[in-house]
Amino acid sequence: MIYIQAIVVLGGLGGTLAVLLLIADRFLANYGPCKVAINDRDPIEIEGGRKLLEVFYDNAIFIPSACGGQGTCGFCKITVKDGGGPVLPTELPYLTTEEVEAGTRLACQVKVREDVVVHVKEEYLNVKEFKAVISSARMITHDTRELRLKLTEGEEIDYRPGQYVQVFVPDTGETTFRAYSVASAPSSKTEIELLVRLVPGGLGSTYLHNIRVGDGITFTGAYGEFELDMSEDTELVCVGGGCGMAPMRSILRHIHEVAPTRTCRLFFGARTTDDIMYMNEFQALAGEMKAFGLHYALSEPAQSPGWDGETGFIHESVERHLGTEGRRQAFLCGPPQMVEATMRVLHDRGLTRDQIFYDEF
Ligand SMILES: Cc1cc2nc3c(=O)[nH]c(=O)nc-3n(C[C@H](O)[C@H](O)[C@H](O)COP(=O)(O)OP(=O)(O)OC[C@H]3O[C@@H](n4cnc5c(N)ncnc54)[C@H](O)[C@@H]3O)c2cc1C
Ligand code: FES
Repeated sequence: MIYIQAIVVLGGLGGTLAVLLLIADRFLANYGPCKVAINDRDPIEIEGGRKLLEVFYDNAIFIPSACGGQGTCGFCKITVKDGGGPVLPTELPYLTTEEVEAGTRLACQVKVREDVVVHVKEEYLNVKEFKAVISSARMITHDTRELRLKLTEGEEIDYRPGQYVQVFVPDTGETTFRAYSVASAPSSKTEIELLVRLVPGGLGSTYLHNIRVGDGITFTGAYGEFELDMSEDTELVCVGGGCGMAPMRSILRHIHEVAPTRTCRLFFGARTTDDIMYMNEFQALAGEMKAFGLHYALSEPAQSPGWDGETGFIHESVERHLGTEGRRQAFLCGPPQMVEATMRVLHDRGLTRDQIFYDEF
């Protein structure tokens, strides 16, 4: 009993000490002016104590940071060439041994306490901040809202199909961003569409479910690694679950516009008929395209009287319909379990890692 009490007391003291250190670091530590040198730009002078991600943002450098700096996405990787202190335990789950050796760090975790020299990928230096107004908003399922964002007059955004933007969430007391995939085709440069599923209590999704037509909105972009193979003989396999529909819609609308003879398939997994998105729209596209296979499957068909389509998890549909022949490229987007299970099927069907792109959320 006495041991348990000692452990509880020591644990409490340790926790209190950690909190006091954090408070002291936040409010009392004075690191003085520090220089941050980014790529070949002139060094920026800042007051020490700020996170690199904030320094970048204040200087209009918008690197991917899908979790908004919470240290949970691992997207904000940059190279620290000098300064920056030791790698923190919060960074390690996202870094390989080779990356640690090469100086890769998470910008949202590195606090500037001394002069630092950093390198960010050149492509991020081209990412811009955009202002827009909400030009239309509608619920497309019981929990998912489709928003159309019209950019300020004269502004245009370039993006590849399947890329995402980071929406600024106001009134949170800090700089908060959340990532949302673009659901429109890249030909739509002055207006983009997003699909947002409401996460109860979630900062970003609640903001985007409450925003009204005519309200202003700020976002940065575009981000993401999705890269379409545009050769005519490559079959495109798109697999989406929930809001993972957004990038698939961007890809397939693009293909419909620029290469309607391409062979492609959309697999969309939903729980019930209430979660189905854009089925009529894709049936119409399929009618206009030469070889478009459309596969919607419900994992809870018992809750969906009248459904006579496919049932089961969406990776099972992929397993049923996808052969092993020919050159293919696959795009997956949805919950991690869906992505993992589908990845296994695709490997079984002969696709290699470089033929598969995915985003999990
Ligand atoms: C590349 C990328 C693209 C994305 N595209 C889209 C998109 O097109 N549409 C879309 O709706 N979302 C998308 N997301 C997810 C989106 O960025 C947010 O994570 C999501 O909207 C939740 O943010 P929030 O601020 O509302 O919740 P938070 O305030 O971040 O979280 C509130 C609470 O909910 C939990 N939570 C967070 N996310 C989920 C979840 N998905 N399900 C259940 N609980 C959760 C958190 O752990 C926390 O406890 C994407 C994410 C990434 C990384
Ligand atoms: S880990 Fe998500 S922004 Fe840094």
